Amino acid sequence: MTRLHSVLLVLVTIYLTGFPCAASSSDQNFPLTQQCLACICEAISSCDTTTGCTGNVCGPFRITWAYWSDAGKPTVNDEAPESSTAHTNCTVDTYCSILTVQKYMHNFQQDCNNDGKIDCDDFAAIHKLGGYGCKMPELPEVYGQRYHRCKQKVGA
Ligand SMILES: *[C@@H]1O[C@H](CO)[C@@H](O)[C@H](O)[C@H]1NC(C)=O
Repeated sequence: MTRLHSVLLVLVTIYLTGFPCAASSSDQNFPLTQQCLACICEAISSCDTTTGCTGNVCGPFRITWAYWSDAGKPTVNDEAPESSTAHTNCTVDTYCSILTVQKYMHNFQQDCNNDGKIDCDDFAAIHKLGGYGCKMPELPEVYGQRYHRCKQKVGA
C-alpha cells in the first residue's frame, strides 16, 4: 500500500467510526480534525495500522505507556485500566488509539510554535516531542517531511 492510500484508509476509518473525532477543530474535548489525525498517523508510522508494539511503543500512532497514561488510560471492551494488557490492547486498536491521541492533546494543547493559534502544527509537535518539549523550532526530519507532505495533500 502506498503512503497516500494508507492515509486515505485511516481517513475513511475515522469517518466511519465517527467519534472520537472532532466535528470541527474547535471541539474542546476532541481538538484534532480527521485530517490532522491522519497526517500525524502518516508522519509517525506511515500510518501502519497493522503494526504491533516495539518495546512499549505501540500501534499506528506509536503510543508509549506514559503517553497513554497521561491521556487517562482509555481501554478497549471495558478492560480495567490497570490490566497489564490495557495499554497494548488500546493503542493497537484504531479507534482507541485515536481516542488516546485526542485525550492527550486535550490535556496538553498549547501554542508550541508561538504563532498565536493552536492548530495541527502544534499537535504534530506535541505528538512527537511531548507536552513538555514541543517548543523546538523544527520537527525531526523524517517525521516533519511526512507531516508537511500529508498536510499539503489533505489539509490539516
Ligand atoms: C487484551 O489482550 C490480551 C492479549 O492479547 C487478550 O487476550 C485480551 O482478550 C484482550 N482484552 C480485551 C479486553 O480486549
